[in-house]
Amino acid sequence: MGVKLVDVTKVFADQSNPDKKVTAVNKVSLDVADGEFVSFLGPSGCGKTTTLRIISGFEYPTTGEVWIAGKVVNDIPPNKRDTSMVFQSYAIFPHLSVAQNVGFGLELKGRAKNEIKKEVEKIMEVMNLNDLGRRRPDQLSGGQQQRVALARAVINKPSVLLFDEPLSNLDAKLREQMRLEIRRIQQSFGITSIYVTHDQAEAMTVSDRIVVMNEGNIMQTGTPFEIYSRPANRFVADFIGRVNFFTGRVVSPDMPGTGDVEIEFSGGSRKTFTGRSGPFKNGQEITLVVRPESLRLKGGGGGIFTGTVTKSVYLGQLVEYEIDCDGDKPVLAVTYDPADQGFFKIGDKAGVDFSAPASHILPEG
Ligand SMILES: Nc1ncnc2c1ncn2[C@@H]1O[C@H](COP(=O)(O)OP(=O)(O)O)[C@@H](O)[C@H]1O
Ligand SMILES: [Mg+2]
Repeated sequence: MGVKLVDVTKVFADQSNPDKKVTAVNKVSLDVADGEFVSFLGPSGCGKTTTLRIISGFEYPTTGEVWIAGKVVNDIPPNKRDTSMVFQSYAIFPHLSVAQNVGFGLELKGRAKNEIKKEVEKIMEVMNLNDLGRRRPDQLSGGQQQRVALARAVINKPSVLLFDEPLSNLDAKLREQMRLEIRRIQQSFGITSIYVTHDQAEAMTVSDRIVVMNEGNIMQTGTPFEIYSRPANRFVADFIGRVNFFTGRVVSPDMPGTGDVEIEFSGGSRKTFTGRSGPFKNGQEITLVVRPESLRLKGGGGGIFTGTVTKSVYLGQLVEYEIDCDGDKPVLAVTYDPADQGFFKIGDKAGVDFSAPASHILPEG
C-alpha cells in the first residue's frame, strides 16, 4: 500500500531549554508508491527517525497529514496502522526459539497452531533460516539474528515495512551482505518499505528512490542515479560520495530548444554542454559538479585546467590523486586500471579534463 506525507512538520520542545524549540521535520511531503522501497538518507540529527516514527504512529506530527493506503491515519494508533518496524537484531526475544520468535506475531493474533507452523516454515525458507528453527537466538550469528528480526516483521504481512538503521550493529562485511538480503526479501514479498540510514552505499543498494534530508528538510528525492549523477544542490552532491565543484559562468546560453550551454571556467577555458535543462542566462554564475572518476588526466597539461599532482595513492585497481590547479581546493581525481592507463607521481604536471555527459550544472555560483 502507498504511503503519503503531506507537509509534515514536527516541532519538539528543547529538553535543555524549555523556551527553545527544535524543528525536527520541516514541511516534508512525499509519495511512496505501493511496493516501492524508499530510503531516508542524511546526517545524524536531520530528522530521519522522527519522520519514520510519525509514519509508524509512535510520534504525532505537529502539523501535516500522514496517509497509508489512501486514508489519513493521523488519529490511528501504531498497532492499528498495518505497519511493521524492523528493529536491530537485539530486539528478538532471547528466551524463545527462532521459530517461536518468527511466529510470535501470528500467535498474538490468535491464529491456529498448525497454521502458524506452516507460515513460519514458509518464511524461514525464504530467509535461508531453514534448519535453525529450534535454536535459541544466542546460538545464531549476527546476520542470522537480523534475518530472524526481518522474518518476524514480514510474517505479519504488513502493508508497510519500516526500518531504522537495522544494520548498524553488524560488522562491515555482514552489513553488505544483509543489504542485498533485505532488498531480495522486500522484492519477493513486494512490501512497501521505508528505510532510514546515514550510510549512502546502503541506501543506494536497497532503494528504488532516496530522500536526502538535512536539518529537517528534504534536499532531494530521486533514484540512486539521479541523486549521485544529477544532484539538486551542493549539499546533496557533497553528502553523496566525493565531488569536485568548478565555478564558471555561462557565455552562450541555450538556443531555444537545443539545451546547449557554453561555460567559461576560471582561467578562461571554455566547454560546451549539450542537452541541459535550463533555462540559463548569459553571464549567469554556475557550479559544475564532477565526480573524481569522471575526470581525465593528461600528461604535461592541457584540458580545462592544468596543475601539479600533490597526492598520488596507488591502490592496485585504481589511483587517487589530488591536483593543485590554483583553485580553493585541490581537484580530486580517480583513475582505474593503472597498469594499462599509467599513473602520475607527486610533482608531475597534469591537465584535467572531463566528459560533458558525466558532469552536472547547478544554477548557483
Ligand atoms: N523527543 C524529542 N525531544 C526533543 N528533541 C528531539 C526528540 N527527538 C528528536 N529530537 C531532535 O530532533 C532532531 C531530529 O532527530 P532524529 O529524527 O532522531 O534525527 P536522525 O534520526 O536523522 O538522526 C534532532 O535535533 C533531535 O535532537
Ligand atoms: Mg535516527
